[in-house]
Amino acid sequence: MESMRPHRFAKRVALRLIDVRNPRTLGEIILEVIKLNNAKNEWKIHKLIIEKIEGEYQTSLSDTIKNSIKVFKEKNYNKILDLGCGTGRNSLFFAQHGFEVFASDISKESIDILRNKIHRKDIFNINIYNFSFENIKFENDFFDAVVCTSVLHHAQLKDIKRGIAEIFRVLKPKGCLILDMLSKDDLSYGLGKAIEENTFVGSREGEEGIPHHYTDIEALKKLLEKFYEVNIYKNEYIIDISGGKEYCSKVFDVIAFK
Ligand SMILES: C[S@@+](CC[C@H](N)C(=O)[O-])C[C@H]1O[C@@H](n2cnc3c(N)ncnc32)[C@H](O)[C@@H]1O
Repeated sequence: MESMRPHRFAKRVALRLIDVRNPRTLGEIILEVIKLNNAKNEWKIHKLIIEKIEGEYQTSLSDTIKNSIKVFKEKNYNKILDLGCGTGRNSLFFAQHGFEVFASDISKESIDILRNKIHRKDIFNINIYNFSFENIKFENDFFDAVVCTSVLHHAQLKDIKRGIAEIFRVLKPKGCLILDMLSKDDLSYGLGKAIEENTFVGSREGEEGIPHHYTDIEALKKLLEKFYEVNIYKNEYIIDISGGKEYCSKVFDVIAFK
């Protein structure tokens, strides 16, 4: 039945059909726990831990990433782009679950670390690239899913727009985007030097030289207006660093379908 979904031209009708058959959207299945709190429009608080992943201390995987596996498998997804992969936390997780992973980062240093990890562990289903999200070196409609966590807000608005247009272009129809963006409600909003409206350099500890763009739900919906289904969740992540010091981020988690 899913393949009979009317596309684009009858968006509203299609959404109603999905509601009648199944009151939960796919995004809700991925984030079912979080949905409850968001219904009350409150920030849902998550405590994250620093754990050793592939020999490296990293923040634990988000529930969104962990739960996405079930939906991706149900939908027979295979090709996943980890855009701004860093040292590969999410890529390695998707590879362990058998997906064909395409991992790209603008930082050569980060992808070298990932390359070493996959050689050490004989992982053959991660392909590594060195391109920016503004210029994704793949053809149209190539990926089943694009995962882009803690990345896109490291830019000015025009580049973020370009990145979203590129993600939309390379996603297959019905493909899924998992994205997060910093909220204007985050405590660091307004700190550092403003380089344009809602974008600051030096606002966040440990990332002083990098721009951070902050958004709100209306602006985010506008950025994602070409997507067929957009689910936005208000999540506050609290990471216990050490010695009682906590690092907090208020972000919008997005699960969108083309
Ligand atoms: C905080 S790390 C997140 C890494 C990974 N996505 C994760 O969740 O573990 C941000 C990453 O975004 C990358 N990045 C920043 N700007 C980028 C761009 N324009 N294109 C691709 N990657 C970029 C950085 O090099 C860095 O590795």
